[in-house]
Amino acid sequence: MLSLTTVQALREARYNWRKADQKVGFVPTMGNLHEGHLQLVRAAKRQCDVVVVSIFVNPMQFGQNEDLDAYPRTLSEDKEKLQALGVEAVFLPSVSEMYPRGLAKQTFVEVPGLSNILCGASRPGHFRGVATIVCKLFNMVSPDMAFFGEKDFQQLQVIRLMTQDLSLPIDIVGVPIERQENGLALSSRNGYLNEQQRAIAPSLYQLLTELKDHIVNGNREYSQLIDTYTTKIEQAGFVPDYLVVRDADNLSEADTNTAHLVILVAAYLGDTRLIDNLHFTC
Ligand code: PAF
Repeated sequence: MLSLTTVQALREARYNWRKADQKVGFVPTMGNLHEGHLQLVRAAKRQCDVVVVSIFVNPMQFGQNEDLDAYPRTLSEDKEKLQALGVEAVFLPSVSEMYPRGLAKQTFVEVPGLSNILCGASRPGHFRGVATIVCKLFNMVSPDMAFFGEKDFQQLQVIRLMTQDLSLPIDIVGVPIERQENGLALSSRNGYLNEQQRAIAPSLYQLLTELKDHIVNGNREYSQLIDTYTTKIEQAGFVPDYLVVRDADNLSEADTNTAHLVILVAAYLGDTRLIDNLHFTC
């Protein structure tokens, strides 16, 4: 497995893959790889000749009060996992390699509309940071396909729209959420939970599933359902940030005719903000 730290080294490797007419798959990550990331890598391996994984904890997508310094960094374990899956190259740029002029002067990419709602409302600037780094990484790796987890459903939509709006010749592939047996969606942030919180956390998915069942069984009184389930989430021990039912194709408000729906939730357990979602057609 190539371990590349500079844009120039990455471009040289990319040049050789292109010359050999190899299809390049890309999985951008911030490291601390869990089974959810590995599923993205496996999907990329199945569909591409060469897989590049980036590991970069992107300061631009963290808010001032967020956990940039505390974000778990487990580089040697991450590299072992990627090597075991047969990844061709890991890209590990430094902050100065990615932002040579510093963050304050950095040109940015922002997807209007989608960036300020839901997680974007609670985390101002977050999706600007995500769109900017993903756009830069796309320009560096120049992949044919890129793989993102559906766990970050809004992020996936932001990236799909950015790719479309900027006419980037890249297929964006969404990969279903990887869950523990008890339903808890895998996330690097689960590592922050204490024992008591770990026991509560799976109820988020259980409540989402119950809510989905009501809708699938014909109850389209979304605002009443949201009130009821927001209370249930509180009673389970969370502090809800949002719980919404939206059109899964563009995250606009759902109405009774919307066929492809997504239920999105963000809720705090102590200081840890968990997100989850379920999308379905009915
Ligand atoms: O989902 C993530 O880990 C990050 O937001 C991403 C896409 C790697 C951009 O930094």
